[in-house]
Amino acid sequence: FSEFLTDTFNRQHDYLRISVTERCNLRCLYCMPEEGIELSPQPRLLTSPEIVYLSSLFVSQGVSKIRLTGGEPTVRKDIVPLMQDIGKLRRDGLRELCLTTNGISLHRKLDPMVEAGLTGVNLSLDTLDPFQYQIMTRRKGFEAVMKSIDRILEMNKVGAGIKLKINCVVMRGMNDREIIQFVEMGREKPIEVRFIEYMPFDGNKWNQGKMFPYQEMLAVIREKYPDLEKVADHKNDTSKTYKVPGFVGQIGFITSMTHNFCGTCNRLRITSDGNLKVCLFGNSEVSLRDIIRRENNGEPIDEDALKELQLLETVQSAARLSDEGGLINEREREILDVIGM
Ligand code: GTP
Ligand code: 5AD
Ligand code: SF4
Repeated sequence: FSEFLTDTFNRQHDYLRISVTERCNLRCLYCMPEEGIELSPQPRLLTSPEIVYLSSLFVSQGVSKIRLTGGEPTVRKDIVPLMQDIGKLRRDGLRELCLTTNGISLHRKLDPMVEAGLTGVNLSLDTLDPFQYQIMTRRKGFEAVMKSIDRILEMNKVGAGIKLKINCVVMRGMNDREIIQFVEMGREKPIEVRFIEYMPFDGNKWNQGKMFPYQEMLAVIREKYPDLEKVADHKNDTSKTYKVPGFVGQIGFITSMTHNFCGTCNRLRITSDGNLKVCLFGNSEVSLRDIIRRENNGEPIDEDALKELQLLETVQSAARLSDEGGLINEREREILDVIGM
């Protein structure tokens, strides 16, 4: 890895997360209100050619892992062709193409996605009880999610090699009684179950009292499996990994509330409306969309326009203007510099 996208904290930003839609087919209690969220008007969102273009730009500068997120990425109508196009960047150094999904409709699209180069799925599942599922997500769909999990495991048996992680947000009084059952998933299945500390946030009427801290989860698990072992974490993992001896799978903890892991975070983020964010919690954003559309009279860029534009040049010259609003903080400035914006 070269000095590309290396910031002053010596973090190498080789991992890009792209939100491909704000929409979702669930309404998880901790994430969205029942009525959903206000959606951006379509023209403000990135088109697929724009997403592919930005992906190629970042891959050319050393990004080797792209994760598509949402909302729920599978509700984007052209998600499969989009992944096919991004998958082609494997030629240029993309090594991992991952998806964070709730798994509701994944089973229907999984095969072509794997063909396109999908290497990892992080699947959100907070309960193993269909009734509780409906309470926590305000929608039906538990069986569909299980079908997606089964399909992934089935495909892996014939060599698909999809890294499967289950994301389970633990909330006190909601699903904390199911921790052991989730650990048990790894007894015979090659799955990593990651327990996530619930994050109360503004507009989310649940309070701090629902938080179930990492140390407490660990205590619950250690009581049942006293020989639980710590596994070395990968350099940029946001989770702490453990293993029950004899189990095929692993477990992990994402301790967003009780331990800060910013020092090892190597993620770059692009929001569905095209803003670059280096931090999940930072408010500072810079619009890559506006920069790449400048040459196209501010219009969304489709396949044809993309062919005609000398985009890289546009982007480079426009970048010098992009500090106008004072939106860019130091870290974002550095990143824009290295990708030539
Ligand atoms: P991989 O490491 O590639 O498996 O992905 P990930 O764990 O970063 O992504 P995923 O989409 O599965 O997110 C899992 C949880 O991590 C979610 O609860 C996110 O909110 C949280 N998360 C992801 N990135 C960050 C980060 O930079 N900071 C914090 N605090 N939380 C993060
Ligand atoms: N607290 C903790 N995790 C959350 N997620 C979404 N909202 C919250 C929250 N308030 C999780 C989802 C998904 C992952 C991408 O983020 O469950 O697994
Ligand atoms: Fe939010 Fe994900 Fe639940 Fe959708 S599935 S409501 S995006 S946490």
